[in-house]
Amino acid sequence: MTRSWWRGAVFYEIYVRSFADSNDDGVGDLPGITSRLEYVKALGVDAIWLTPFYPSPQKDHGYDVADYVDVNPEYGTLEDFDRLIHKAHGMRLKVLVDVVPNHTSDQHAWFKEALSSPDNPFRSRYYFVDGKPDGSPPNNWGSAFGGPAWSKAESTEQWYMHLFAPEQPDLNWWNSEVQSEFEGIIKFWLDRGADGFRIDVASALFKRQDLADRPLVRDRVTGTMRPDPAFSHLDQPQLHDVYRRWRQVADGYEPRRVLVGEMFEARRQSTFIVPGQLDMAFAMVMARWEAGAWRRVIDVARGALRGPGNEPSWTQSNHDVVRQVTRLGGGDLGRSRARAALLFLLGLPGQVFLYQGEELGLEEVRVPDELRQDPVFLHSGGRQAGRDGCRVPLPWRRGQPNAGFSTVPPWLPVPNGWDRFAVDAQATSRGSMLQHYQRALDLRRSLAARLPDQLAWLPAPQGVLLYRRGPLHVACNFGPRPVSLETPGRVEIASSPTVQLRQGRLRLPASSAAWIVAAPS
Ligand code: NOJ
Repeated sequence: MTRSWWRGAVFYEIYVRSFADSNDDGVGDLPGITSRLEYVKALGVDAIWLTPFYPSPQKDHGYDVADYVDVNPEYGTLEDFDRLIHKAHGMRLKVLVDVVPNHTSDQHAWFKEALSSPDNPFRSRYYFVDGKPDGSPPNNWGSAFGGPAWSKAESTEQWYMHLFAPEQPDLNWWNSEVQSEFEGIIKFWLDRGADGFRIDVASALFKRQDLADRPLVRDRVTGTMRPDPAFSHLDQPQLHDVYRRWRQVADGYEPRRVLVGEMFEARRQSTFIVPGQLDMAFAMVMARWEAGAWRRVIDVARGALRGPGNEPSWTQSNHDVVRQVTRLGGGDLGRSRARAALLFLLGLPGQVFLYQGEELGLEEVRVPDELRQDPVFLHSGGRQAGRDGCRVPLPWRRGQPNAGFSTVPPWLPVPNGWDRFAVDAQATSRGSMLQHYQRALDLRRSLAARLPDQLAWLPAPQGVLLYRRGPLHVACNFGPRPVSLETPGRVEIASSPTVQLRQGRLRLPASSAAWIVAAPS
């Protein structure tokens, strides 16, 4: 049996608003992406994931969808989408679309209908619920963006639920109409050529039907009261049936389409990433730079998956988290670690998800408060910085205004001096982060046929992780001092030129990693 294309594939997340701007309005768009597919291909990835590009009031930058079967005019048209897919496929790049089934925008026609009168049938597509007798919301659930998960609907006395911003009302998945609408939506994009979906908030679609308060328990560390994590207000078994049906839809296409759930927890992955349901979820590696912590993340993620040949999808960053160079210490230190981390993760069995800009070594940007746009910042009254800092437009060209993204000021400002990270600057600079990514991805591809899924941890000095996959040995020094270890074979790639192999011993400076490939015997 041939292996499905996505097993072991490398995906590249494109944050549409910030990738490439074709019409110089300061906002990325679909034709911009199409014009830069050569760049993506040359990086060496197999597929792209496009963040939501639907019509949207942009209260959560596209994750508030006003129409699931069209394109935001700021980003282009359906024909632009068709052109993008056509060109990508011609270059043997697959394209995943981001589907957002947990909530719509408050500007979606269904929600507008629902608000139009208290007995409008569209109300049952959402959670419209009476408040408590004391006038408080129906329960104590909180929104991920701060504050209660309920807002009062203007025009009625009831409350509606939103696990995210008030402009993102949650859909009621107990309603079979919602279920069949979404089957139609995913077919729409599959018929247009999408190769699969990244499913937003994939585990939360069904809420417990009694909408009971979450009991509060005392936090053992801080002493404050917080919702009991053992009380499940979201996980409902009916969700498996939804994904079983989506699986059948996706399997109706040739080659079969893929389903990637936005799910991070091992316990959820072990029940959803199984034959007949989802193919992938994200094994997010956000551990501090410490060998034991990284090994645990790897073991837990691998241990969670049971299905035949199922391996984790390693991910260091996306549009929701602080960029890894910054997390790993920032500046040159953060970049050395990020170079090592890439090699460490790319050697593992499984898929890899990259986020635009990590191949340039971009850091989190301190966006001035008055320019921040993320609802996390706005709804927390500025207490949380939010995610704008990892969403700043990509620097394309050295010496150009806004590092070549657009001549007008982009939707988030590009920091001064960022053009030193620009694609054109790095493309020709030996040993740049971009060249490191390209080489590592190239090597991974050329070795793929020789690498089994089995992985063995080998003994290594303190602070070092060493594993073997067939002929490939991967060593990473998480410690503060250089180490030397015995390894067979040749260094095929290292994160730093200071890594050396002498008389069979590998010298690994602090925060470095290398791939050693044993010669076929
Ligand atoms: C996860 C998305 O990645 C994030 O950007 C968004 O804010 C929430 N889901 C809500 O849709």
